[in-house]
Amino acid sequence: MKFTLLASALALAAPTLAHPPGHGGWDQCVTQQQANRVVNEIIAIFGHSPSVNAANATAQALLADNFQESSDSIHALEGQPLTGSGLTANKAEWIAGIVGRPAITDIQSLYISPAGCHKIVWYWQFNKVAAATYRVRGFNLIELSGRGQIDQLVLDFNSIAWGLDDGELPCDFTAKA
Ligand SMILES: *[C@@H]1O[C@H](CO)[C@@H](O)[C@H](O)[C@H]1NC(C)=O
Repeated sequence: MKFTLLASALALAAPTLAHPPGHGGWDQCVTQQQANRVVNEIIAIFGHSPSVNAANATAQALLADNFQESSDSIHALEGQPLTGSGLTANKAEWIAGIVGRPAITDIQSLYISPAGCHKIVWYWQFNKVAAATYRVRGFNLIELSGRGQIDQLVLDFNSIAWGLDDGELPCDFTAKA
C-alpha cells in the first residue's frame, strides 16, 4: 500500500495544546502526555480501531485542514523524483490512503518525545506490513498547529523493507529477514 500514518472518545476531544492569546502564539509546549496521545491516535487510525468510521473521525479531528505530508522514502518507493519539497499527501489523500485501505496493526512505538515546542518525534516499528516478511522501522517528525492538530508530517523509513513486504519492489531485491 501507499505509505501515506484511541478509542472514539478521543476522536471527539482533539488535543488542544494552547490557547493563543490574540496573535496565535503558543502559551504551552507539547508535553510527553500529549505526544503519547497524538501517536496513539495515529496508531488507532492505522489499525482502524475501534472501527473504520471511528478511525476516520479520529483522523478528521487530528489532522489540520492544511495538513501536508512529505517523505523522500515514499517518493523513492513510488519511483517519483526526490525534489526535496515534494508532498506525498494532503489531508483527504492521507486519510483515504490509510482509512480507505486494509488496517495495519501491530505497530510499536520505540520512542516518543516532544521535539522543541511544537513538534513530536516518533520512532516506530511496523511488524505487519502486508506479507510482513520484514519489520519496518522509521521516524516521523510531527508538527502541531496551535490547536494541537497535525499540520505537517515529515517521515523517513526503511522503504526497501516496506516495498519488499507489500510487493512494490521486486522480490529479487536483496534484504534478509
Ligand atoms: C471519512 O469521512 C469523510 C467525511 O465524513 C468522508 O467524506 C470519507 O469518505 C470517509 N472516508 C472513508 C475512507 O471512510
